[in-house]
Amino acid sequence: MTAYRPRRSALFLPASNAKAIDKARMLDADVVILDLEDAVAPEFKEEARIAAVAAVREGGFGRRELVIRANGIDTPWGREDLAAIAGAGPDAVLVPKIASPEDILQYNALISEAPVKSKLWVMIETCAAVARLDAIAACAGSTRLSALVMGTNDLAKEMRARLRPGRAPFLPILSLTVAAARAHGLIVLDGVCNEFRDSSVLQAEAEQGLEWGFDGKSLIHPDQIGVTNAVFTPSADELAWAGAVVAAFGLPENAGKGAIRVEGKMAELLHLDQARRILAVAEAIG
Ligand code: COA
Ligand code: MG
Repeated sequence: MTAYRPRRSALFLPASNAKAIDKARMLDADVVILDLEDAVAPEFKEEARIAAVAAVREGGFGRRELVIRANGIDTPWGREDLAAIAGAGPDAVLVPKIASPEDILQYNALISEAPVKSKLWVMIETCAAVARLDAIAACAGSTRLSALVMGTNDLAKEMRARLRPGRAPFLPILSLTVAAARAHGLIVLDGVCNEFRDSSVLQAEAEQGLEWGFDGKSLIHPDQIGVTNAVFTPSADELAWAGAVVAAFGLPENAGKGAIRVEGKMAELLHLDQARRILAVAEAIG
């Protein structure tokens, strides 16, 4: 198993907002995403690019993973963004509105000069991408692709669906995206919750994302970090169960068994794998 890295909370911020960048260096988000795309108005695109590159160079983000979201290559800024980001070498480049595996190959080629550690993350936010999830995720085998990030706002716009508490129109897409990511060993992050003043909406949405199998949730406001980190941190009950499963499988009388009884329920070797993962996640969060 590769070392687990927590990605419970991934905070977006407009790279044009210097104050927000400064603040992000101290916030408890596991991932910081400096946005050059939707959060930045056209007249500030160049300034945002310069600021994002400078932020990577200056560092100071500690354990936080640092990601820059570029504009699409079908815009006037995309290619220059990618060249600048590749030169700066953040942990990942996040690209918007991909529609096909060919798009991934093209973006991958455009960041070929980036250091090896810089991964390619992609937004799943077009209707075209929804129909090609497995082929898109399979690009992980031949490119730097390492994460899928749900873009529920753009998806709602394209589908003409309503993004409301419960997210019913999106549930099949969310779970198919998680399945595609898991099939190809990718990280998968849930979309943002626009209602940053109402923590009960966020709480429910984060719990839904956890239940659906996401590694974490993308966020738009610092106030959303605490709730999200708590939801995606293994609970005391989960840790107790995981510890009991590992201990039970370690007993001499259970040696060589595939299925045993733990706390009155069946536990199989697959549950032992799950238990070990929960313990590894908790240890990485620390
Ligand atoms: N990251 C870091 N700091 C942030 C932040 C973020 N995403 N959002 C707000 N802040 C900071 C503000 O700069 C402000 O700092 P200050 O008190 O030092 O001035 C403080 O937090 C409080 O901000 P607040 O007044 O509550 O929010 P707002 O009304 O100014 O802004 C948003 C609300 C939604 C516009 C803003 O949070 C934002 O731009 N979020 C990110 C949007 C984005 O990146 N979208 C793209 C992905 S969907
Ligand atoms: Mg968008």
